[in-house]
Amino acid sequence: MGTIVVTGAASGIGAATRERLEADGHRTIGVDRHEADVVADLGSPEGRRTAIDKIRADSNGILDGVVSAAGLGPYDEPHAVTRVNYFGAIAMLDELRPLLAAGTAPAAVAISSVGAVFTSLVIPAYLEACLAGDETRAQAEIADQDGNTAYVNAKHALALAVRARAPDWGAAGIRLNAVAPGSTETPMLDRLHQHPELGPAVRGLPIPLGRSALPRELANAIAFLLGPDAGYVHGSVLFVDGGSDAVVRPDAL
Ligand SMILES: NC(=O)c1ccc[n+]([C@@H]2O[C@H](COP(=O)([O-])OP(=O)(O)OC[C@H]3O[C@@H](n4cnc5c(N)ncnc54)[C@H](O)[C@@H]3O)[C@@H](O)[C@H]2O)c1
Repeated sequence: MGTIVVTGAASGIGAATRERLEADGHRTIGVDRHEADVVADLGSPEGRRTAIDKIRADSNGILDGVVSAAGLGPYDEPHAVTRVNYFGAIAMLDELRPLLAAGTAPAAVAISSVGAVFTSLVIPAYLEACLAGDETRAQAEIADQDGNTAYVNAKHALALAVRARAPDWGAAGIRLNAVAPGSTETPMLDRLHQHPELGPAVRGLPIPLGRSALPRELANAIAFLLGPDAGYVHGSVLFVDGGSDAVVRPDAL
């Protein structure tokens, strides 16, 4: 049994993940803007620093897992989406890596999105800036775009960033993967459904299994990726989307 950080733990997928991990006997440290062990805004450098310092103190510098699930929705403002969904998410992984290195069979999971596969919206210069860790340049590249474009790009960049870290993290003995959820019944999806433009588009997403996911179905996949049954799974993006990606991009692996 280990100590696992879950960001976005106050709601939706993060809350379900926390519940599942605790039922499995793990100790979790929840991070969120409210109702969490560590209350911090992961959109700001100060908030990220506060979170890291508090997690280090609460864990005695030893972690066995990290789940970077905190995120804003495609209806949010593009700069805020960039701050939280890419730079906040990746900062938690990178900054907590030394704590994971002290853990037992450590593993981390980032939460991307099936939205990342809508590559017609991808802005290569934004991805490049994200992967270079240049938040100022990424914000400049997204300035004229809407929240949905920022969301697609940030989630695409996050999946690429996980893959780019495979050599280093693997050599350090820390597994790192991403989950790409499809439509999942959380407050974020409720808000999306109510949005005048994004609502119809989201409802129109083809889902071969014919229904949205329950948050605990995402938690199950995340628990698998963190655990010993996934001992050889590393640098992967696992789509947990009822088959949506297979329909949107049938020719892509
Ligand atoms: N629900 C879906 O259909 C869906 C689909 C694909 C991907 N996702 C991704 O899954 C993750 C979880 O989403 P969810 O559906 O559970 O959403 P949610 O809105 O229910 O939960 C997100 C949580 O993140 C927290 N958060 C947001 N900004 C934060 C910040 N600056 N600092 C700290 N915490 C912050 C919120 O307070 C909230 O508790 C997100 O990264 C989201 O993009 C969700």
